[in-house]
Amino acid sequence: MSVLDVKDAPSSRPPTYGGGTGLWATKSISALRAEAEATGERSLNRTLGAMNLTMLGIGAIIGAGIFVLTGLAAALHAGPAVPISFVFAAIACGLAGLCYAEMASAVPVAGSAYTYSYATMGEFIAWIIGWDLVLEYAMGAATVGVGWSGYFVSLLDYLGIHIPVALTSSPLIHCSAADVTKAVNFCTHAGWNTTGALFNLPAVAIVLIASAILVIGIEESAKVNNIIVILKIAVVLMFIAFGLGYINTANWHPFIPQNTGTFGQFGWSGVFRGAGLIFFAYIGFDAVSTAAQEAKNPQRDMPIGILGSLAICTVLYILVSMVLTGVIKYDQLNVAHPVAYAVENVAGLRWLTPFITIGAVLGLGSVVLVMLLGQSRVFYSMSRDGLMGPWAGKVHPKYRTPYLSTIYVGLIVAVITGTFPIQLLGELVNIGTLLAFVLVCAGVLILRRTRPDLERPFRTPLVPVVPILGILACFGLMATLPGDTWIRLFVWLLIGFVIYFSYGRKHSHLQQEIAAGGKPMG
Ligand code: ALA
Repeated sequence: MSVLDVKDAPSSRPPTYGGGTGLWATKSISALRAEAEATGERSLNRTLGAMNLTMLGIGAIIGAGIFVLTGLAAALHAGPAVPISFVFAAIACGLAGLCYAEMASAVPVAGSAYTYSYATMGEFIAWIIGWDLVLEYAMGAATVGVGWSGYFVSLLDYLGIHIPVALTSSPLIHCSAADVTKAVNFCTHAGWNTTGALFNLPAVAIVLIASAILVIGIEESAKVNNIIVILKIAVVLMFIAFGLGYINTANWHPFIPQNTGTFGQFGWSGVFRGAGLIFFAYIGFDAVSTAAQEAKNPQRDMPIGILGSLAICTVLYILVSMVLTGVIKYDQLNVAHPVAYAVENVAGLRWLTPFITIGAVLGLGSVVLVMLLGQSRVFYSMSRDGLMGPWAGKVHPKYRTPYLSTIYVGLIVAVITGTFPIQLLGELVNIGTLLAFVLVCAGVLILRRTRPDLERPFRTPLVPVVPILGILACFGLMATLPGDTWIRLFVWLLIGFVIYFSYGRKHSHLQQEIAAGGKPMG
């Protein structure tokens, strides 16, 4: 038996039972706080301040959404009205962000939405949300890995280095019946088709490099992240500042192109569908909350990190999308690297191309880093509760990082990013994340009722209005996503149920505590 096993024996674990029974048993918030304060073999390093947390948020937020998906949203759904899509998505994120901020300040422990729901809605919902967060963080890292590969390959092309196509794209493509009719490349039948590629090598490489950095240490990861975030913001500001002078207002007409007769293709339905797609661009502000246990002063700094990074990115996104659709006609933006493509095709902006490409390569790289960070922290928390195997909770004796969780997550994400196409991954990420946001908003409502006394350094304003609007707004965005994505979400949750009932429930420390006669601590 290792030292960790001895420490974790049920008899030596401090009580954590908060109340409720069976699937609805909750963890006590005071116990959660005490657990987070505990030092020792399984503790993480508290090194992050408000600035680092905001930077971490921006590092996670600005990525494939703005650099890749904005073009797609403009070309296929919203037209020049894509900034309005950004405003709609920002409203949903802002409402959810206010709820995240209250939760992160009241329950400042690693694990984010997973831990909040364990304390408010019980173990089963906590499991669902933890499992669902895999869609956000692990699949998010995989999605951005594919986007990164696109920009990296164009950077290499710019430098005259060419990697064979067989090593830079997904070997699989998912085709609809309409794709087959339209004779989309490689679509010979509806369903999965092969593309002839072997795997997406650059995507795999970035995921493995980011995982290696994360194993070495959170402080080092934050330093790398800070440098990249500064460069990324600089590139975005350059695009806005220099692009402004080249806006041709004729490109903004018609501002909302006429609907083609299909839901989501222009018209107002297109603006909403665009919002559902570019919601991806905002994902990441919540990743700040996964690092609560590594924050020096989480109660004060978590809300600053979450809301600050969201506000900064919202302003930048609206400006970027206005400039993008202003310098080039929206219907030309259906490409893998729309921002670089736009500057390449405007004579006076061409000199910006290498800056944009390098900024995107570094920027998307930092998103992969923070998404992987979030995933390993969620697994760390689930393992600490017995719902995941002990491997996920093992902290490296020297680096103080959950290294096994980081390595395993990195390997699995590398396989996924190397194999699957970006659209499929991105849609799953959006629906999974929106579900998590809905549950966090619900958590605020529940906690205000069950624990009105709880110290809340940050209070969501206008409760219950803000959480309820947050729930409605997130459901609204979910409703704009394709039916296939909903089916994938249900299948994923079903797999989660099987794992919970066959493993998690039996190994749950909370259930063991209750079985041993534990009394609710409230
Ligand atoms: N918001 C992140 C991105 O746009 C996930 O890449």
